[in-house]
Amino acid sequence: MVNIGNISLPDFPLLLAPMEDVSDPPFRAVCKDNGADLMYTEFISSEGLIRDAIKSRRKLDIFDYERPIGIQIFGGDEDSLAMAARIVDVTQPDLLDINFGCPVKKVALKGAGAGVLKDIDLMVRLTDAVVRSTSLPVTVKTRLGWDDSMLNIEEVAERLQDVGIKALAIHGRTRCQMYKGEADWTLIGKVKNNPRIRIPIFGNGDIDSPQKALEYKNRYGVDGIMIGRAAIGYPWIFREIKHFVQTGTVLPPPTVEERVNVVRKHLQKSVEWKGAIVGINEMRRHYANYLKGLPNIKEYRSKLVRLTEEAPIREVLDEIIEKYSGLEMQATPIELINYHEKCPVN
Ligand SMILES: Cc1cc2nc3c(=O)[nH]c(=O)nc-3n(C[C@H](O)[C@H](O)[C@H](O)COP(=O)(O)O)c2cc1C
Repeated sequence: MVNIGNISLPDFPLLLAPMEDVSDPPFRAVCKDNGADLMYTEFISSEGLIRDAIKSRRKLDIFDYERPIGIQIFGGDEDSLAMAARIVDVTQPDLLDINFGCPVKKVALKGAGAGVLKDIDLMVRLTDAVVRSTSLPVTVKTRLGWDDSMLNIEEVAERLQDVGIKALAIHGRTRCQMYKGEADWTLIGKVKNNPRIRIPIFGNGDIDSPQKALEYKNRYGVDGIMIGRAAIGYPWIFREIKHFVQTGTVLPPPTVEERVNVVRKHLQKSVEWKGAIVGINEMRRHYANYLKGLPNIKEYRSKLVRLTEEAPIREVLDEIIEKYSGLEMQATPIELINYHEKCPVN
């Protein structure tokens, strides 16, 4: 078992990474169904929470079936983070996570997210302020450092543990790498194997197959793995990794029925949580991923993205089941998209 404060997770837990505009309740629901052991909300601005911005408040929505779930906040000011922590407390998630990893300009260059990696003393003060303002277990998610000349994650891990965080998730890139290159897990392994470190260390970055997950588990000894992009359009990654780690055998890819059932559930949750118009609209970006690999699916896909009401969408989904029922699906490699490709680093 892996313990984060008072939360007990199974051995080698799989975490769904916090992802802005992705890890919302509908997406989390299908990841939970498919084996995610711990999930996080999208990051929430501490300033936004304090101003009571509707967009930030809405991201606090969590449901009992999602537990254990963490709410992630970011900010660069001690008082604001402390106040945001008190607001989060009222929502009663299972844990509170601080984002010290976001590389995008609007966050990192304002001294929040990965921006804090340039100033460990500040990071420690911010974390301490949060730990003192909440009774929830506090965790941190961060990167290896600001850039290749400032790879300070080993010091960061020790100092954050000393101020009371209960787990650390490390994305194996620097801020300046954004999403470029390959994630380097060597330093993550070093942090994990530092005898002073007692808290769980979760590795993150580029896990896109059960084989890679097991290889990295064995090579770096991490307590669990956090998965982001691979779960987008493929929530089955969680159950596939679990199965492979436990048995050494590869699960067959999801059947057509399973794929359509995930679309149905995601759609239902989207409509419930976002309302019909926004829910149906935002589902459009998901169909292609969920239905990938079905031969000649284009015709159905273009119908799905044009329809504006739930009932006819559900009819098309029924048609897909009818047409492809019994089709043996082939496994297709998961593509990891570089989401911030166009985001300037400076
Ligand atoms: C679209 C998108 C949004 C993200 N938003 C957040 C976020 O809100 N908070 C955070 O800590 N990391 C965020 N990340 C980073 C991921 O949590 C994760 O660290 C990163 O994608 C690397 O993991 P992966 O290779 O498994 O995707 C985001 C990543 C993506 C692709």
